[in-house]
Amino acid sequence: MIPADSLPDPDRDATDADDPIAPTETNDPASGAPAESAESAATPRRRIKSFVTRAGRVSTGQQRAVETLGPRFMLPYQPAPADWPLLYGRTAPLILEIGFGMGKTTAEIARTRPDDDFLGVEVHGPGIGALLKLIGEHELGNIRIIQHDAVEVLEHMIAPGSLQGVHVFFPDPWHKARHNKRRLIQAPFAALLASRLAPGGYLHCATDWEPYAQQMLEVLEAEPMLRNTVSGFAPRPDYRPITKFEARGLRLGHGVWDLIYQRV
Ligand SMILES: C[S@@+](CC[C@H](N)C(=O)[O-])C[C@H]1O[C@@H](n2cnc3c(N)ncnc32)[C@H](O)[C@@H]1O
Repeated sequence: MIPADSLPDPDRDATDADDPIAPTETNDPASGAPAESAESAATPRRRIKSFVTRAGRVSTGQQRAVETLGPRFMLPYQPAPADWPLLYGRTAPLILEIGFGMGKTTAEIARTRPDDDFLGVEVHGPGIGALLKLIGEHELGNIRIIQHDAVEVLEHMIAPGSLQGVHVFFPDPWHKARHNKRRLIQAPFAALLASRLAPGGYLHCATDWEPYAQQMLEVLEAEPMLRNTVSGFAPRPDYRPITKFEARGLRLGHGVWDLIYQRV
């Protein structure tokens, strides 16, 4: 997890005035197609986003990393399938991470799994800089970053059946009931994720918010393209490091729930 002060306050009221994509009950959640009407056919309705665009201070070191390493490790969003072997300079299993925050976990996993390629998708500018800085410090050649909505990246840049894994670690929990519709893990998005996995590929989600953990379990159990690797919640696999915030939460008696599914 990343420090609370660098995250959006998920409990903050997303009013129409400060919310770039004001939630509407008629939109499908996270990844569903917008509901069509005579009016929206002319003016397509924007779908509910799982994030709010937030300002954040980019440190001098992060900015330097963006300038020096961005051209090599950042990929532009494009609404067409990408040629991953060309972009990584090799053919290797491709693992997508959605919402990597400040990128510590991403960098740690990429360092310990040099034979896999990692695609981190995040919208938050300081997080992009932070991960680029880690890429430089640890000389990680197997990470690429896209600063864009992961839903659109999945829909347009990633061809069906092309991922070996997907990591969704501590997605914004959107605690308030009226914000629950912003949660990433909902049925249409689970189907999209599953369609992008190759048969045998895995989806690994983790959360420290129990109601969201239950929602994830219900949604993923109901997705016919996915099979739970265990019964219910999974033990944390060794490749997912415990962050210091997670460790503190665990010391305080808070839970963390991992869910690991395989594409059938
Ligand atoms: C609560 S943070 C968790 C960050 C990190 N995974 C961790 O464990 O520390 C969730 C992150 O997901 C990002 N995010 C949410 N929805 C996203 C989307 N649709 N596309 C890309 N990033 C997204 C947010 O910007 C935020 O940084």
